[in-house]
This record gives sequence, structure tokens and C-alpha cells, in this order.
Amino acid sequence: MRRRTEVHTTNARARRAGFSLQGVQQRSCNTPRWNKEHKGHAMIPQPFRVQQVRRETHDTFTLELEPVRGGDGFAFRAGQFNMLYVFGVGEIPISISSDPTQPRVLMHTTREVGTVTKAMGKLRRGDVIGVRGPFGTPWPVEQAQGADVVIVAGGIGLAPLRSALYQLLAHRDRYEKIVLLYGTRTPNDILYRRELQRWRAQFDLEVHITVDRAMSGWRGNVGVVTTLIPRAPFEARNAVAFVCGPEIMMRFTVLELQRRGVPPSNIYLSMERNMKCGTGVCGHCQFGPCFVCKDGPVFRYDRVAHLFEKREI
Ligand SMILES: Cc1cc2nc3c(=O)[nH]c(=O)nc-3n(C[C@H](O)[C@H](O)[C@H](O)COP(=O)(O)OP(=O)(O)OC[C@H]3O[C@@H](n4cnc5c(N)ncnc54)[C@H](O)[C@@H]3O)c2cc1C
Ligand code: FES
Repeated sequence: MRRRTEVHTTNARARRAGFSLQGVQQRSCNTPRWNKEHKGHAMIPQPFRVQQVRRETHDTFTLELEPVRGGDGFAFRAGQFNMLYVFGVGEIPISISSDPTQPRVLMHTTREVGTVTKAMGKLRRGDVIGVRGPFGTPWPVEQAQGADVVIVAGGIGLAPLRSALYQLLAHRDRYEKIVLLYGTRTPNDILYRRELQRWRAQFDLEVHITVDRAMSGWRGNVGVVTTLIPRAPFEARNAVAFVCGPEIMMRFTVLELQRRGVPPSNIYLSMERNMKCGTGVCGHCQFGPCFVCKDGPVFRYDRVAHLFEKREI
């Protein structure tokens, strides 16, 4: 149940951004809703045991989880997220970064930024955390069949896109070109190094990496990820783009993709907002008339362009 103060705050915020919240409850976000199937109750965390902890970079780690109660694995779609609960500390949304075609292995890649993520970073094999989900809209991987697929990732934004890449590669013959453009702050921030090396060696996948700031020994591209777009090998009119990263990076990526000729209706973004319930009840994740937890996190750009252009909503 939304508390009165929360409703008041979101109403005020929406008014400041030029929106009316009239009808929000009925359904005024113009993105299609994703029908979720929850085996358990959406509000009750299920216990999952940490099977493996993998350090990706100095501040980022991947947890491999398995359900304490056993079962057939964790079915999800690439782009969806779970609410992860570190007992006694707090609960946060984290994208699923594993392969949706291999539901027995559930992975989340997290960057340590604050209270919960730092506590999560201290978990070890055998520890138990709570998992609610999967929540949210997926990347339109099936709908992109027959097209070139361009994946543009910034920093930790590669985590939810890795799931999409696994799915694309599992059905490689259904797509034309697949191009990954990935940017990080420094070479030390590059995630999934071994996988990227393997993907780079594949003839049917183009991988281009760039860093904002080079260090000694780096021989790759230097510059923000948008600088890779003009030269990237894809046919813009027949391309579908999946974009995830900091909001500022997504703004410039969308501009550059459109400059290259990718239709706005073929560009998809994954948005982040503070979340509590994950189920469209509390209003914490409001993005104009949309709730990111339910109508997103993956949005088709042309459907939210009018919101995306505002500095703060
Ligand atoms: C749908 C969705 C999917 C997400 N997927 C992932 C994921 O796969 N991996 C991942 O690492 N994170 C992901 N996030 C972000 C993650 O939920 C936040 O980083 C987390 O909630 C921070 O919680 P905390 O308690 O550690 O930080 P807090 O204690 O709440 O915040 C501490 C400080 O960090 C800042 N901060 C908070 N979030 C971020 C952020 N994202 N980046 C930089 N600074 C931040 C705050 O402003 C504050 O100053 C996702 C968020 C959403 C909404
Ligand atoms: S997190 Fe509660 S409505 Fe989205």
C-alpha cells in the first residue's frame, strides 16, 4: 500500500516535470505490460544459497545462486531483474546476468556503491540471501530476429545485456550482424574479461571496447562509447539496438544511433530508479506516468522519449 506522503511526493514530482498523475493507477504509461509468472508470492523472498563468488573488478563481483529448496532452476527473460535481500541489511534490485537458456545457473553481477551492495560483496560460498522475482520487461530478443543487433553497454550496464547476448548467440542463425560496443572508465573496470576475449575471437560477433582513460599497456580504443557508433559494422535501417548504462551515456547513445539512421522505434533502453516493492505498488520507481519495475526496466525509446528528454522526473 502506498503511504499518503509517498503519493504526495510522486504527485508533486510529476507536476514539476509537466505531467498529471490522473489516471496513472488505471494504466497511463504507453508501454505494453509484461505478464509475469511468479511461482512463489511476489512479495516473499525465497532463500538462495551462494554457490560461487567471482571477483570481476576491484569493486564488482558476480554471485552464482541456487535455490535452497532445490527445483528446476530459475526461469527468466534476458533484461529482467530480481530483488535481492541481504538479511538484516536491505533489499535492492539487481539485473540477472546469466544465460536465460540455462535456468539452472542464476547469476547477478553487482557493483559495490553503498550499504546493501557492500554487504553483498562480503557474502561467501554457502551464505544464504533472499530472492524475489523475476520482475520487469525483457529485451525484445525474439522480436529482433532477422535484424542486425547492436548492443551498447556502459560499465555495469553490460550485466543485463550479457543475458541478451547469451540468448542471441544460442540462436545465432536467426540474426544478421551482432555487434557489441562496450565502454568503461578504465581498462581495470572491464567486466567478464575471459568471455569478452572468447566472443572477440568469434567470427560471427563483433566486439569493440573503449575506455574513457587509458593506462599503460592499453592498446585499444580511448574515448566514450558513443565514438564507436559511427564506424561500427551494422546496417542502421535494419538494426535493433539494446542500450544500458548511466543515463547520460544512454542519452548520447540514442542521439548517435539516430544520427547513424537507427529508427527510434528500434532502440531499447534499460532504466534504473530506486525501488522497494518491484511490483508496481509503492510508487518508488516512478518515471513520469510509468513505473520502472513494471512497465520497464526495458523501454522502447520512442515510447518514453518525451520523458527521457527531461533532466529529472
Ligand atoms: C532494474 C534495476 C536493475 C539494476 N541492476 C543492477 C545490476 O545488475 N548491478 C548493479 O550493480 N546495480 C544494479 N542496479 C543498481 C542497484 O540497485 C543499486 O546500485 C543499489 O540499489 C544500491 O544500493 P546500496 O544500498 O548499495 O547503495 P545506497 O546505500 O542506497 O547508496 C549509496 C550511494 O551510492 C549511490 N548509488 C546508488 N545507486 C547507484 C548506482 N547504481 N550507481 C552509482 N551510485 C549509486 C547513492 O546515490 C549513494 O550516494 C539496478 C537498479 C535497477 C533499478
Ligand atoms: S518499486 Fe514499487 S512501484 Fe515500482
